[in-house]
Amino acid sequence: MSSDDLMTNHSNNEHFHQVLDRALQDPKRRNMLRGGFGLGVLSFLGLPGCGLSGEDSGTGGGLGFSAVPLNQTYDGVTVPAGYQFQVLYKLGDPIDNATAAYANNGTDGTDPNPASANGYLSFDKRAGDHHDGMYLFGMGSANTWDKTVSNKGLLCINHEAITPLFLHPNGPSATPRPEIEIQKEFRLHGVSVIEVTRSGSTFQVNTASPFNRRITTLTPMEVRGPLRGKSAMVTKYSTNATQVQGTVNNCASGYTPWGTYLTCEENWAGYFKITSTAGRDAKTLAGDARYGVSSSSGRELWASGGVGDDYARWDVTIKAASADLDFRNAAHGYGYNVEIDPFAPASTPVKRTAMGRFAHEGAWVGPVTVGQPVVFYMGCDSRNEYIYKFVSTENWRAEDVNGGLAAGDRYLNSGKLYVAKFNSDFSGQWLEITGIANGTSITSGTQTFNWDSSVDPYLNTRLGADKVGATPMDRPEWGAVNPKNGEVYITLTNNDSRRSPDTADAANPRSYKDNASSSAPSNPNGHIIRWRETGSNPAATSFIWDIYVFGAESDDMSNPQVNLSGLDATNLFSSPDGLWFSEKTGIMYIQTDDSAFTNESAGNGSTCMLLAAIPGTVGDGSVVTVTNTKTDGTTQSVSTRVGKPGTIRRLLTGPLQCEITGITETADGKALLVNVQHPGEDTAAANINSPASSWPYATTTGNPAAPTTPKSNRPRSATIVITRVDGGVIGQA
Ligand code: FEO
Ligand code: CA
Ligand code: CA
Repeated sequence: MSSDDLMTNHSNNEHFHQVLDRALQDPKRRNMLRGGFGLGVLSFLGLPGCGLSGEDSGTGGGLGFSAVPLNQTYDGVTVPAGYQFQVLYKLGDPIDNATAAYANNGTDGTDPNPASANGYLSFDKRAGDHHDGMYLFGMGSANTWDKTVSNKGLLCINHEAITPLFLHPNGPSATPRPEIEIQKEFRLHGVSVIEVTRSGSTFQVNTASPFNRRITTLTPMEVRGPLRGKSAMVTKYSTNATQVQGTVNNCASGYTPWGTYLTCEENWAGYFKITSTAGRDAKTLAGDARYGVSSSSGRELWASGGVGDDYARWDVTIKAASADLDFRNAAHGYGYNVEIDPFAPASTPVKRTAMGRFAHEGAWVGPVTVGQPVVFYMGCDSRNEYIYKFVSTENWRAEDVNGGLAAGDRYLNSGKLYVAKFNSDFSGQWLEITGIANGTSITSGTQTFNWDSSVDPYLNTRLGADKVGATPMDRPEWGAVNPKNGEVYITLTNNDSRRSPDTADAANPRSYKDNASSSAPSNPNGHIIRWRETGSNPAATSFIWDIYVFGAESDDMSNPQVNLSGLDATNLFSSPDGLWFSEKTGIMYIQTDDSAFTNESAGNGSTCMLLAAIPGTVGDGSVVTVTNTKTDGTTQSVSTRVGKPGTIRRLLTGPLQCEITGITETADGKALLVNVQHPGEDTAAANINSPASSWPYATTTGNPAAPTTPKSNRPRSATIVITRVDGGVIGQA
């Protein structure tokens, strides 16, 4: 059929070797190659000796480890034979030499004097909770970013959320919540910047480093880009709309080609409280509804903490005569990518409003070329939300490496914002939200308003995406760009309630019942979509796509409507979330955040995991028909295109009730850093002293001394470092 022809033609036109040839004939790109800076360029052109690919894996070898088995009962991390790991950075760990070790029993930070050694201000110098997206910036002798350095670096780590039960002596108090508890929680969110060093194969945090820094829900931030100074951003905190206080729900992340960190504000809307919509105009009501600003209490009940602005700012109910006297617009300050310069510890983080406002999962830079725009791919993590792309107005200049936030101003304050449409013939378009005409009438739910093209593409991005006709996806999570060929991958983790057979489409084709947990057909196990831009140009407005791999569980291995990728015991997984390509080896890593598979009956499920993969290219597989069964027993068929999974193998399983998320590596590829988030998260309050997980235990690895070691200590989110016993490169033979 014609779509196959389309695929073949594109494939013939755009093989990576031709892209490479073209790049080498381009004098600008040739100079970039010689100069050897900017990982994006090296990525685009391929690394010497990389050789791992789906196209020619016969010459480059495959994955050099044996798959670890599924784990449903062991409260520890498991890696293959020949691999080892250590715990590096745990919830509450001090980041300076003046702060005491974390007691981990709820008493930390409870001295009534906030400024005393054990007052809540001490949490400005402790690791936050729920470690998530991260990036390791190698640091050279000039204390600037040096991509070639592996023994010393600045590690930026997101702290997405908290498990309140384990943070206070007896879990969180009822509303109105005590100030001390809330002030601790403010500081357990945000970002850590820590200096890490390697000696032999052992890593440690340098607690004496002047670069160590915490960024929290209290940190002042600059508003830059189109929304700076706009009336919708006016609050009592910043009456001229140039600043926002803090960041929250920092999920995945990104890095820029100039050497800064992007921390991405994901499911921020639920933290805000609203008790009356009186006085809000149609556009604000439409935005509130579309972003989910609707809680009558706020996720952590922070507005209950007292009369001060620290607490009042979480309540967006109109309370005063004008916006500069209350916090009606406070939620307008969240939902952005925030740029942080880890090498300038005194610098003020910047909310990059030109990249749009939604549930930002992360931001992943596309291949970078001198004289071309800088491109970031972004997902919006909610059911039936979209995949976005930002294309800078300014073209890349090599001299901006290590340019800090000034370089950020150059590339991230102006650009085109697109959203993806996936067609059933496996083509796709980038639809421009910044192209919606000023004054266009927008109707969303019961509200109608006129689009302001100077504000709304950035403030009401989801509404613009609706207007241009984007494709609703099964919860976009992380993205990653293949350094071999520039193809882009994004995980669609699951859509456990809203992808019925009636709404299945080619890009989100599955709707089936999970034996253990579904009451109605849905996509409980997720998939990974990928695409190739036309001409392999990241700024292109069209692409071709396929589905790289479909998740599937043990009890569906023989179900051809579910296990479309032919997974087996060495690589079956559910709910792909974290995604990462090693710059060194080209290996792709997949991390899971799953509840559909963890809840299977004994012997049939697993804790969350990390897998390694050597994928091929878009269009390397075939067109398949997925037959979905509706609740009434009738069926519906959807055609999609599934790729060859290539080699996929399980590298790690985690402790009980954790998510495996966040991944980065040293430049030499010999250490992989991974986060273990919220072990034991479902522990009932009554079991606080016998939690579902006690990982990390008091051992170097965090694993229990024996499988029978009692669970009595409170669990902690933590960063681990995986190395090989023989000192080799991770993943390879
Ligand atoms: Fe924070 Fe999208 O997971
Ligand atoms: Ca199942
Ligand atoms: Ca299940």
